[in-house]
Amino acid sequence: MQLERLQVEFDGPVARVWMNRPEARNAFDGLMTTELRKTLFDLRTVDSVRVIVLGGRGPAFCAGADLQWMKATVAFTREENLREAQGLADLFFTVYESPKPVVARVHGAALGGGAGLVAACDIPVAALGTQFGFTEVRLGIIPAVISPYVVSKIGESAARELFLTGERFEAVKACEIGLVRQAVPEEDLDQVVEARIGELLQSAPRAVAEAKALIREVAFRRIEDVQRYTVERIADIRISAEAQEGMKAFLEKRKPYWIV
Ligand code: COA
Repeated sequence: MQLERLQVEFDGPVARVWMNRPEARNAFDGLMTTELRKTLFDLRTVDSVRVIVLGGRGPAFCAGADLQWMKATVAFTREENLREAQGLADLFFTVYESPKPVVARVHGAALGGGAGLVAACDIPVAALGTQFGFTEVRLGIIPAVISPYVVSKIGESAARELFLTGERFEAVKACEIGLVRQAVPEEDLDQVVEARIGELLQSAPRAVAEAKALIREVAFRRIEDVQRYTVERIADIRISAEAQEGMKAFLEKRKPYWIV
């Protein structure tokens, strides 16, 4: 697919996906949404790729939904309007349920859907000075399709504060509430992202995908409802070739094959 809104770089086991619409601070319109969703979806089955890094070109990570595009939905039928909103919801879900770990490289600003994208990623690392905010209510809209990802990361207490005020906040607070995992000086951002990639590449690829699926399944469920599932998962996975290799390598004091 010819990409207009993204740049995708392949670097061994790492795919770097750059939102590339700096003139609009990487706000996502229909085209950006489609390209991002399709790219993330296609990467699911690229075996050589073990880590995805999502970043933004220009001064900001992502200014959220394109407000021109959101505004234009007034002329849509309800069906068309629902279809557009579904496209956006599908994008966040594709990021969230990707079997590959997604590291977000966040700088400048991550607002509205941009902050939602951060929440859907596995390991978001932000530069100090990045502006975050769920600014939707200030525009008369609501952080609807991003809310499941955000609330599960930051909890109800912070969501009540930040969804209702729409206030902007900085990276240290984003880290404190669990929206990002690390807040680091901007000049260290790439180095820290590389370190996170290095950690992820120590992990067995199938085990990583299974661990992500496990989190999805057990989050916010009663223990008695998920216990059988967790028992079945470990019973199946510990006899897999990858698990046998990982445990054997440890006992033989050597590296497993996935560490190159
Ligand atoms: N949708 C559409 N266009 C957007 C946009 C958005 N979400 N965010 C920024 N832009 C556009 C601006 O309109 C401007 O366009 P112009 O050059 O034609 O005037 C351009 O991007 C640059 O924006 P500007 O505000 O001048 O850049 P900045 O670097 O000073 O600030 C932000 C960047 C992201 C902090 C600021 O643009 C901002 O606060 N945007 C609103 C984000 C928001 O509330 N998003 C929630 C959407 S639900």
